[in-house]
Amino acid sequence: MAIIQTHPSSDELAHAAADHFATLAQEAIHDHGKFSVALAGGSTPRATYEILATIEYAQKINWERVHVFWGDERLVPPDHQDSNYRMASEAMLKVIPIPNENIHRIHGEAKPHDAAREYAETIRDFFNPHSTSIDLILLGMGDDGHTASIFPGTEAVFEDSLNVMAHYVEKLNSWRITFTPRLINAAQNVTFLVSGERKARRLRQVLVGPYQPEILPSQVVRPSQGRLRWLVDEAAALHL
Ligand code: 6PG
Repeated sequence: MAIIQTHPSSDELAHAAADHFATLAQEAIHDHGKFSVALAGGSTPRATYEILATIEYAQKINWERVHVFWGDERLVPPDHQDSNYRMASEAMLKVIPIPNENIHRIHGEAKPHDAAREYAETIRDFFNPHSTSIDLILLGMGDDGHTASIFPGTEAVFEDSLNVMAHYVEKLNSWRITFTPRLINAAQNVTFLVSGERKARRLRQVLVGPYQPEILPSQVVRPSQGRLRWLVDEAAALHL
């Protein structure tokens, strides 16, 4: 069952998400000595990353024990304006004391299938082969109901053998690398961050409407063991 937390503004949502991140990091490091987190791309999480980069959070999070991944990436070099890695790097990673070897970026500059295969190997090698269970996967939701780079009408929605895949997204006229539902649903915690009135109708469809993941891919996120949370602001929750 999903937990839905509504916050008055996007700024309060960002602070709540930063606190959520810090709490899970402390719990994971206490439990098994490290915290693995897959970051979301897009624009919503940037404010959260900037808050996590402040001195206040430096005292809450032992960044030496944090390992950062990405739930999806565009097929662009790491310094490209569309790179999810670049966004997180500018907002947070360049500022915090995280060892370079703890930053596991998707090589968007490579050929699509090479990048996906390589990232699947990175994930496999990091986790023990029996349980590829990331401690926290942060996700956004597009106003078409997509999440990560799992878009409506694409094969990614029902991919159930790969953990990471490359696919050409007609709607965007571009390739994307993405975690698959299989990898997302194996996580210990999956948390959506959704902000803004433009997401409100879609958010209602996803949370309250019939299960139709082929057109609302965010619905495919149903962690088998882990906890699913939606951190949203009041504007996005308008129709809930
Ligand atoms: C991406 C993201 C994507 C994003 C949603 C929401 O690479 O773009 O992974 O899934 O989270 O599109 O984006 P906004 O936060 O910009 O609305």
